Amino acid sequence: MNRIKPYSIVIFVACIAITYALVQNFIIDPEAKGFLSHKSDYNKERMNTSIWLTVMYVHLFFALIALVCGLANFSDKLLAENRKLHKVTGYVYLFSVLVVVVTSGYMAPYVTGGKVASWLFHLLNIIWPAITITALVKIRKRQVMKHKEWMVRSFVFLFTNMLIHLVKLIVEKVVGLPYELSYTIGVYAAMIGLVVTAEMIIRTKLRAPKKA
Ligand code: HEM
Repeated sequence: MNRIKPYSIVIFVACIAITYALVQNFIIDPEAKGFLSHKSDYNKERMNTSIWLTVMYVHLFFALIALVCGLANFSDKLLAENRKLHKVTGYVYLFSVLVVVVTSGYMAPYVTGGKVASWLFHLLNIIWPAITITALVKIRKRQVMKHKEWMVRSFVFLFTNMLIHLVKLIVEKVVGLPYELSYTIGVYAAMIGLVVTAEMIIRTKLRAPKKA
């Protein structure tokens, strides 16, 4: 029987993440009015909404570019057939991650959920580029397996947004907690969940001996 390849599952989940981001931010809530309505009065007073919105769309654009480039670069076929393209998309990925981090850095002080959620984003803004640059250093040293492992650790964070909103939706609608608290729980659950997922993929898929 044909088993579903792990890479097909990743493509499927990435397609859901991309569709969710486009539909949510261009059709359901095009100017983030719904999202911004949940900001605390303290945040509303300090924020410049039009700059925030521009930064958010730049953030969204580069997050999706990183998602697509990362996805393409996990393809063994692409790597075997066109090493140069893998390299180019790799550098586009790195650049996009840096733009996502800089834009995230702008938005982080105004995060829904206040300081409790905000500090985790600040932490990710330091850790994520470090992880991605480590992946680059590994391949420069010709450590292919290590490069793959660090890229998995980097790539999972591109599912942050979808996962935060999924957890938030469940906690808010099913458990009945207020929006802001549900969002904060979503931030923690997403980040911890993604770190654990990356380590599980590395240990069960990448490091597992290949079947003959
Ligand atoms: C494909 C991945 C990502 C997409 C599509 C994405 C998209 C978005 C969007 C649309 C928003 C506006 C608010 C919302 O709907 O949540 C947002 C907010 C934000 N994102 Fe991302 N993002 C991604 C990954 C990341 C990553 C990896 C980080 C951290 C390094 C990050 C940090 C932030 C921050 C700090 C905010 C502000 C949240 C708030 O105001 O409460 N995002 N993102």
